[in-house]
Amino acid sequence: MPETPVTALSVMHAKGRRKLAVVTAYDAGQARLAEAAGADVLLVGDSLAMVVLGLPDTVSVTMEQMIHHSLAASRGAHKALLVTDMPFLSYQTDVPEAVRNAGRLLKEGRARAVKVEGGAEIAPQVRAMVLAGIPVMGHVGLTPQHVASLGGYKVQGKSAGAARRLLEDAKALTDAGCFALVLECVPAAVARLVTEAIPIPTIGIGGGPDCDGQVLVFHDLLGLFEGFRPKFVKRYAEMAGDVREALGRFCEEVRSGAFPGPEHSFEMDQEELDRLLTTKDD
Ligand code: KIV
Repeated sequence: MPETPVTALSVMHAKGRRKLAVVTAYDAGQARLAEAAGADVLLVGDSLAMVVLGLPDTVSVTMEQMIHHSLAASRGAHKALLVTDMPFLSYQTDVPEAVRNAGRLLKEGRARAVKVEGGAEIAPQVRAMVLAGIPVMGHVGLTPQHVASLGGYKVQGKSAGAARRLLEDAKALTDAGCFALVLECVPAAVARLVTEAIPIPTIGIGGGPDCDGQVLVFHDLLGLFEGFRPKFVKRYAEMAGDVREALGRFCEEVRSGAFPGPEHSFEMDQEELDRLLTTKDD
């Protein structure tokens, strides 16, 4: 990652020059680790709902929850660009509401950009946010906020017609002013076509190798989320097992008395201890 802070503008400039690494983060510690590891962009995704809050999907996460976690992540993000997801129905209903809510994510959540899911139908909201000075990242393909109408978490853009609509959506979002575009769960050939057709970087998640960058969920890439594992997830560690093993040893040692040992305990001066045991007051 470059020494100077990453901005929406420098993300746009990276297209064709270097690949962008994007990781989700939901608190200060995760943001600090991901930034130190070299992530260009930290995404406070609404995947928060599933991997942190234990909800079944992203639909019910609220503005207050996104603000709370965005603010926490912002305290660990100093150079990487912090992008926060706008939750379901915080931007789809009308344009002024979308701008107000995006503004709250910047003012109260300390995000430096927002991400929205959807195609040409949300171009007016994107245009208004950008005009208000809010950098916007788009997200097309599989858009989890639409899981009810999509009928599940399925690969999108598989037919020629669907791929053409996806391309049109990508162009509409680019024209509206998005600085980057997430492509989720689309055939690699379609992601390549979109990447070649638009001047802003595409960030793939299940979009094959030709996107301008890649994003994974923190808990997925570390093997911390065991709920389900989509095909596009590569686990770079199996941390859930390590965490369970360490916690199990702690519980065992508490019960056996092996923890805490003298190295984890504090001593008292013998003279003070004698005074404590033999006299009433100082
Ligand atoms: O919510 C999220 O984490 C996302 C990424 C998976 C792109 O939208």
